[in-house]
Amino acid sequence: MGSLKFILSAYLLSLSLCYAFEERVAAESQHELQHMHTIQLSSLLPSSVCNPSTKGNAKKSSLKVVHKHGPCFKPYSNGEKAASPSPSVSHAEILRQDQSRVKSIHSRLSKNSGSLDEIRQSDDATLPAKDGSVVGAGNYIVTVGIGTPKKDLSLIFDTGSDLTWTQCEPCVKYCYEQKEPKFDPTVSQSYSNVSCSSTICTSLQSATGNSPACASSTCLYGIQYGDSSFSIGFFGKETLTLTPTDVFPNFLFGCGQNNHGLFGGAAGLMGLGRDPISLVSQTATKYKKLFSYCLPSSASSTGHLTFGPGASKSVQFTPLSSISGGSSFYGLEMIGISVGGQKLSIAASVFTTAGTIIDSGTVITRLPPDAYTPLRTAFRQFMSKYPTAPALSLLDTCYDFSKYSTVTLPQISLFFSGGVEVSVDKTGIMYASNISQVCLAFAGNSDPTDVSIFGNTQQHTLEVVYDVAGGKVGFAAGGCS
Ligand SMILES: *[C@@H]1O[C@H](CO)[C@@H](O)[C@H](O)[C@H]1NC(C)=O
Ligand SMILES: *[C@@H]1O[C@H](CO)[C@@H](O)[C@H](O)[C@H]1NC(C)=O
Repeated sequence: MGSLKFILSAYLLSLSLCYAFEERVAAESQHELQHMHTIQLSSLLPSSVCNPSTKGNAKKSSLKVVHKHGPCFKPYSNGEKAASPSPSVSHAEILRQDQSRVKSIHSRLSKNSGSLDEIRQSDDATLPAKDGSVVGAGNYIVTVGIGTPKKDLSLIFDTGSDLTWTQCEPCVKYCYEQKEPKFDPTVSQSYSNVSCSSTICTSLQSATGNSPACASSTCLYGIQYGDSSFSIGFFGKETLTLTPTDVFPNFLFGCGQNNHGLFGGAAGLMGLGRDPISLVSQTATKYKKLFSYCLPSSASSTGHLTFGPGASKSVQFTPLSSISGGSSFYGLEMIGISVGGQKLSIAASVFTTAGTIIDSGTVITRLPPDAYTPLRTAFRQFMSKYPTAPALSLLDTCYDFSKYSTVTLPQISLFFSGGVEVSVDKTGIMYASNISQVCLAFAGNSDPTDVSIFGNTQQHTLEVVYDVAGGKVGFAAGGCS
């Protein structure tokens, strides 16, 4: 009897153990499901037609954001090349330019080279151009009105630099080809030059990294970017029209007379950095240094750039920090990374040694070597069933998906101080050259003291809110599609 009771209870026990085990397995796969993305491969490759996002365009002070190399931006639509698509730039070339931008950010912030001012004071004559440059040309474009009557101009917007400029007639030295007719200050009723003796002229030093020059008492600016693009011209004041109701007289900007570089048909650049000359600072009275954007999931969709308060979503905020030697940059405190729901074991010092900035113009997120290596290991483990492909430029973890129509990717989250978890959109995990070469869209810095950069691929579809006056940056999912 006793043994039967024992057998029975052992049976029941094993049953319940079994049940508990199954329950755990079910819970675990449920858990895993929540930390994976199964995606159509087609969603990784931009289409050749523009599919504008329907989200986020209704806000009052909102501008439509398009990608420089995508079908929603037609760089030469007013010119002879109207029928041709945007100039095809290879992925290897885009990544090479991205690496130039990152190199110049690192060189500007390098802890070994001191602040820009220190370099200048110590030996002005031997200052290498790159160390003094404000960095990079960015990839996303908005259209604004300049002058009276206003002329619409497409500008690259860049949170990593400050001066707003556009190519200006008569293009004394050189202007590259752009989408709209070039801005001509002589036909605007509101243009004026800034004089060399004005204190505003000296403020160019911190905004551009270069001392201003003087030409027949007109203040001259010069700004070069990490990829050796540059603009030189008159520093002027003009009426800036962001939306029909948001008009800013006497906006300080560069009227470019010698412009070279990779601006892809855009008329110039909009600087959204933290310096007093940036658009954010110059419009502070109206917008209180508050702006937000959403970068679309692919180059064939659209996003938005909104000034002032946007939609009140469930935005999670992390504190803004300052980056020594980089007064333009928006510093954040990254503290961790997870892959497929598993937090990677990375010492806190790995992130604090380097520091982190968020940048709209850097394509691929850069991590300290000791954060990138565990990320890559975990990602490769998760992806082990897929055939690998050769490295693409700086991207060293690539797969050949040509035999698949859908693939399953691990969820990747970036953690920031203040308890903020940013889950990277499924379109921001990999960078597709073509179907047979799709790569993990993260890269490692070679020097552990180089700053980490939260790049724009990983910002896809996020509503990113910059509350500069409030000292914080916030994130919400689903800002655009
Ligand atoms: C601005 O300065 C330049 C260079 O001195 C000059 O050629 C131009 O006519 C000036 N424009 C105005 C509106 O004063
Ligand atoms: C994919 O891109 C790589 C690098 O750009 C190239 O070598 C390869 O031939 C391409 N494959 C196809 C199928 O287009």
